[in-house]
Amino acid sequence: MQTKYTALLESYQLPNGIEIKNRMMMAPMTNYSSNPDGTVTDAEVAYYARRAKGVGAVITAVANITPGGKGFPGEIGCDRDELIPSLAQLAKSIKSQGAKAILQIFHAGRMSPSDQVPDGDVTAPSNIPAERAGTLGVVPRELTETGIEEIIEAFGQATRRAIEAGFDGVEIHGANGYLIQQFFSPHANRREDQYGGNIEKRMTFPLAVIDNVQHAVKEYANAPFIVGYRFSPEEPETPGITMGDTLQLVHVLSDRGLDYLHVSLQHFWSKARREADTSRTRIELLLETINKRVPLVGVGSLYTADDVAEAMKTGIEFIGLGRELLIDPEWVQKIESGNEADINTTLDLNGKEALDFPDPFWKVITSVPGWVPGVE
Ligand SMILES: Cc1cc2nc3c(=O)[nH]c(=O)nc-3n(C[C@H](O)[C@H](O)[C@H](O)COP(=O)(O)O)c2cc1C
Repeated sequence: MQTKYTALLESYQLPNGIEIKNRMMMAPMTNYSSNPDGTVTDAEVAYYARRAKGVGAVITAVANITPGGKGFPGEIGCDRDELIPSLAQLAKSIKSQGAKAILQIFHAGRMSPSDQVPDGDVTAPSNIPAERAGTLGVVPRELTETGIEEIIEAFGQATRRAIEAGFDGVEIHGANGYLIQQFFSPHANRREDQYGGNIEKRMTFPLAVIDNVQHAVKEYANAPFIVGYRFSPEEPETPGITMGDTLQLVHVLSDRGLDYLHVSLQHFWSKARREADTSRTRIELLLETINKRVPLVGVGSLYTADDVAEAMKTGIEFIGLGRELLIDPEWVQKIESGNEADINTTLDLNGKEALDFPDPFWKVITSVPGWVPGVE
């Protein structure tokens, strides 16, 4: 291994004492390949086992914590106890390869397709539809306070199931426009009760979810258990979350006893869009605000070993690899063995079997031009 990559392969001890063997994590990626009842398929398990050999931790595709929170067909479920054996199969397949297994958990809120949730009942903080293709026009039902409390509780229950299934941790998905982000967003959240209004009130729901998840860990885990939180830094809509809002949220999150924060980005080096110094990268601003209180995971279009080595120079603790591991499951091992020049950076369109892709996932990623490099 070349010395310039040593930093990537150093272990790191999370605040709760758990050691992650290196600085690369598999980024969460929905794979559309679970059974309709939310159980994992053998092909999905094989896909994860293949990619869990090199990285320090695998963050799974997102799993829904209630039936009404489902966001995609073929999603992993963690909304009822009968799914625990299936979740256990997934956790074991990841851990047996040496990576920590982290289950990403969410409720899709207004981003749920109506045909994926019982009675087509799409819910959200307010009855404002998402301005995104695919969901455009679905007017969600505004959640009642009781409905909100039930969802907060469901995050704790999902955490208990992850613990019982043998996962090493959960990542709370507060990013990419789903329910937790919707509560923080002045676009999606027009409430005037304790869950909406000024920025502090818009933090009420995300913080209540974190509390409930941490409470479940205290109650049910008999060994340290990782709790991470993922967020998206900015929304394009007006009104919408600004970089200024996110820095305030991150300032609060940094003191909440989390094991890591994870910023969701398409491009690691992207700059702030508004309400912050727009000449600086989001990563720089986040690292400055966090000020080493909690480790940060960064991600986004870092395809080569040099891309990641350069990103690590910012002082960030972890790098998430998403599409990179779809394209090349041996990404990390190639650096370890000094063969980083052989890392593939475009998808081999004949590689479905060789790369251990489940059919539904392969169909999705090869049908969207430009989503994964190599797919035109
Ligand atoms: C096929 C696919 C599915 C994704 N699903 C999720 C998801 O379930 N949860 C999530 O937080 N991000 C999801 N993402 C975003 C990735 O975690 C990551 O932030 C993004 O792909 C940029 O990183 P990359 O350039 O390393 O791929 C997904 C991305 C892809 C390509």
